Amino acid sequence: MSRSIENIVILTGAGISAESGIDTFRDAGGLWEQHRVEDVATPEGFARDPELVQRFYDMRRAAVQEVEPNPAHHALARLEREFPGELLLVTQNVDDLHERAGASPLHMHGELLSALCAICEARHRWTGTLIEGPPCPACAAKALRPDVVWFGEMPYQMDRIYRALASCDLFVSIGTSGAVYPAAGFVQEAKGHGAQTLELNLEPSEGSHWFDESRHGRAGELVPEWVGEVLTT
Ligand code: OAD
Repeated sequence: MSRSIENIVILTGAGISAESGIDTFRDAGGLWEQHRVEDVATPEGFARDPELVQRFYDMRRAAVQEVEPNPAHHALARLEREFPGELLLVTQNVDDLHERAGASPLHMHGELLSALCAICEARHRWTGTLIEGPPCPACAAKALRPDVVWFGEMPYQMDRIYRALASCDLFVSIGTSGAVYPAAGFVQEAKGHGAQTLELNLEPSEGSHWFDESRHGRAGELVPEWVGEVLTT
């Protein structure tokens, strides 16, 4: 990275949590090999078989509470604390490992540890199960669903993300396959506004050619190394 950096946007995906023991989606043995996306990650799938969908997210919600942040999450939390410029951390992940490392991510695809009321749209921190149909703490309707963004739904806070992409001078993508839009298009958006772009991923992502620089390896090693570089230049 050449010129001095004052404004960074970071996008993370499932790869950053892989070394904590959370399955990614598209790697061999990943979640989308074990489950059909249409069944567990669409509003239509939920309408068809709510129990199946609630069970899927109840299991993931329980699993996420059994794992710990890894060195990549800790390094980004350190960057958030120590970087003197602007920094926005956007995650596609629905786990809370960035928070538990001490960072404040924007969860564009929602959060496992949150329940969304389909009636009043209130969001509640939720650590237990939803399959038994508990009432919404705000309106009492038995209409709580996982607060995760499904295919065909609008990700959270897109206006804020696009504003940040338009003014950043460095965009960094970490541990994401670049297969799902709109997140997969962030690199082109940032580049179009003149930002440098860097990818840190186990292997070249689908959009790897869009990045000025790609480093391949495990997030637990690449991210602390890169954060060290940013904080010493
Ligand atoms: P994917 O499973 O599509 O991609 C994970 C990426 O992480 C792959 O490119 C892997 O090579 C890489 N990876 C795996 N282990 C890694 C490691 N230890 N260090 C670094 N990289 C590693 O996951 P996402 O790109 O996050 O959305 O998926 C995007 C969205 O698709 C998810 O948010 C989810 C999913 O469907 C919704 O459900 C709406």
